[in-house]
Amino acid sequence: EKGGFESFMDKEIHDQPHAVADTLLGRTDTAGRIVLDDLRIDESVLRSVDKIIVIACGTAAYAGHVAKYAIEHWCRIPVEVELAHEFRYRDPIVDERTLVVAISQSGETMDTLMAVRHAREQGAKVLAIVNTNGSTIPRESDAVLYTHAGPEIAVASTKAFLAQITAAYVLGLYLAQLRGNKYPDEVTQIMDELRDMARKVQTVIERGEYVRATARSMKDADKVLFLGRHVGYPVAMEGALKLKELAYIHAEGFAAGELKHGPIALIDEGQPVFVVVPSPRGRDQLHSKMVSNIQEIRARGARTLVIAEDGDDAVRAYADEIFWIPQAPSLLQPLLAVVPLQIFAMALASAKGLDVDQPRNLAKSVTVE
Ligand code: M6R
Repeated sequence: EKGGFESFMDKEIHDQPHAVADTLLGRTDTAGRIVLDDLRIDESVLRSVDKIIVIACGTAAYAGHVAKYAIEHWCRIPVEVELAHEFRYRDPIVDERTLVVAISQSGETMDTLMAVRHAREQGAKVLAIVNTNGSTIPRESDAVLYTHAGPEIAVASTKAFLAQITAAYVLGLYLAQLRGNKYPDEVTQIMDELRDMARKVQTVIERGEYVRATARSMKDADKVLFLGRHVGYPVAMEGALKLKELAYIHAEGFAAGELKHGPIALIDEGQPVFVVVPSPRGRDQLHSKMVSNIQEIRARGARTLVIAEDGDDAVRAYADEIFWIPQAPSLLQPLLAVVPLQIFAMALASAKGLDVDQPRNLAKSVTVE
């Protein structure tokens, strides 16, 4: 069943190009417009939504954090992302014009299910982005947008994460189309770029051996930091989560802009720091800010492990290791940048002789609160 791979996780990492492609399949009509037939929420309701709250746990919540950047940018609707177990207990402001988006691979996570029930009791519409057909969360939601990642067996989520981002992006584009924030040809263009991501994810996987070798050389690391900005920030947190759960290493993801506000005190000689570098082609200052951050931590002794776009020569001078990813539009970069982090955590855990599919103390779906 592992299809010749060492572990389910390894197989599932390799399934990722398909997870992205299949999640996009059948979402557009011949004219290139997004059609979500199975949505079951009235278009007039979706047009009047004035706030979106994403609820999820763990990796699914990080997919929500990534999607927030894209949905706000495309639709101009405020998006909050909240851990399901926090949402439920804080008296959230939710009404008929709130769209709650519940993201879950299993569709059975108890914390997320309880938050779904709570949101519906308050009058919100709930749309579930779920991977497992016929599971409880979509049954109890108003609408469902399935991710088509196929069964995910390894406890550490990989392909479901890419599929969740993809599905949430389709939802964002659909809302933008419906509400007139985007012209049809803009939607078609972004959908084409999304479809092209499957091929690029495959390229990152094919470059995995260098990541694995680096991981093997770092099996004695006891603390690893991850930095990102913008959509790279949730990617940094996801990279840290992978390393915690698989390799039992203390790992933490930070927004790079936060360094001076505290975390830079953690940097000492030899401290490994992963840095997810934004595209140098972006119109904002993010890339140059991040290059300065890399310089700052390197000057304090950090060992910098940099994820950068092909052709980004500015990072060369300050990187100890560079994991190259293909060029992509800024909002789509997370689909590529997370892959070396997944491979790194898996390879480091294997090098330590750990069971990557079944890490200690964890269950694939958390059906208790
Ligand atoms: O099935 P779900 O997507 O609802 O699960 C949510 C989290 O429990 C899950 O993502 C967890 O964080 C994974 N072990 C992460 O790799």
